[in-house]
Amino acid sequence: MKLLDARKDPYRKLAHEQGFRSRAAYKLKELNQSYRIMGPGFYVLDLGCAPGGWTQMAVKLVGNQGKVMGIDLSYVEEIPGAHILRGDIEDENVVDEVMSYFERKVNAVICDLSPKVSGNWSVDHAKQISLNYDCTKIMDKVLAHKGNAIFKVFDGEYSMEFRDYIKKKFARINLTKPKASRKQSSELYYVCLGFIG
Ligand SMILES: C[S@@+](CC[C@H](N)C(=O)[O-])C[C@H]1O[C@@H](n2cnc3c(N)ncnc32)[C@H](O)[C@@H]1O
Repeated sequence: MKLLDARKDPYRKLAHEQGFRSRAAYKLKELNQSYRIMGPGFYVLDLGCAPGGWTQMAVKLVGNQGKVMGIDLSYVEEIPGAHILRGDIEDENVVDEVMSYFERKVNAVICDLSPKVSGNWSVDHAKQISLNYDCTKIMDKVLAHKGNAIFKVFDGEYSMEFRDYIKKKFARINLTKPKASRKQSSELYYVCLGFIG
């Protein structure tokens, strides 16, 4: 995004005013308003959470009775009400860390992962989808029956294959692009409801 466009961006302004670390927080808010992925008391795992906009929003949505854990390769400044783990979701120990924090399966897994973009679209798309498959490996072990999930997808040649793969794991899948997602961005969100396993 060019600097001038960024200054005019209403979600960026709102995030600044309301104390959210990224404008992405409003994508989660909007997705949740449409699909009720999480609510008070939910346990939520946020994969690829830096700088923390989704984690902050999730903390707000689950309230005092809920629990939120965010994981990212990058350092994330502390978020009151959330547990942050600096780590790689491709690391096999992540599942143990998640289960030791929540002490039971979670109600929602939210994935907003992006690789470091190289500028080569096919490579970036393939890597992003591959990160999503890694998320499903964690999800399969930690998501409770009837739980929900979100996957950000860089739309491209492997998107449908990924959709077919996760479709079998949920009662319902919706493909959506929230208003807060920039029109020129190729990202889409798969909202998955009712985990079957
Ligand atoms: C678009 S950002 C997430 C924004 C976040 N949802 C928010 O609201 O602030 C994508 C994140 O995915 C993280 N990421 C990419 N590969 C990862 C990996 N293998 N393990 C953990 N995090 C990863 C990046 O470090 C980056 O912070």
